[in-house]
Amino acid sequence: MLSIKRVIMSAIPKVGLFGLVVSFATAISADDSQQHVQLAQLTEGFDAEATYMMSCFACHSTGAAGAPKVGAGNADAWTSRMEKGMEAVVTNAVNGVNSMPAKGLCFTCTDADIAALVEYMVSSSQ
Ligand code: HEC
Repeated sequence: MLSIKRVIMSAIPKVGLFGLVVSFATAISADDSQQHVQLAQLTEGFDAEATYMMSCFACHSTGAAGAPKVGAGNADAWTSRMEKGMEAVVTNAVNGVNSMPAKGLCFTCTDADIAALVEYMVSSSQ
């Protein structure tokens, strides 16, 4: 016959283990989301210019809603934004920021595609 005390004693290590598994799982999923950005691949046959024209041009050529303008002579619009680092700028483009919609409404774009678009936008604004 199991005494109450023995049941409790045998439950304690399990609860401890459960807590460990939960925190371990949390650590893994946090890791996953970071790796997701790093492991994201360019879409096969990705064309930055064509995708820019299709998804980003509408706002970024005119500067609609305060979008940093793209094109020769607009380097200043990008210098201040790039000060926070390429990664932060790409993260904003992926997640959206203020009136900038997530992924610039390019729903088929991977994170790597967005990073390539940002590079394209910055380099064509020199
Ligand atoms: C509906 C209009 C709109 C579209 C479409 C759009 N953007 Fe934007 N974007 C904005 C606006 C507005 C901002 C300025 C947001 C702010 O900083 O307040 C912005 C800012 C940005 C920034 C700067 C982020 C930063 O950290 O300063 C990047 C990079 C960017 N957009 C990339 C893209 C890309 C890539 C696309 C196409 C895939 C795209 N945008 C499509 C409106 C748009």
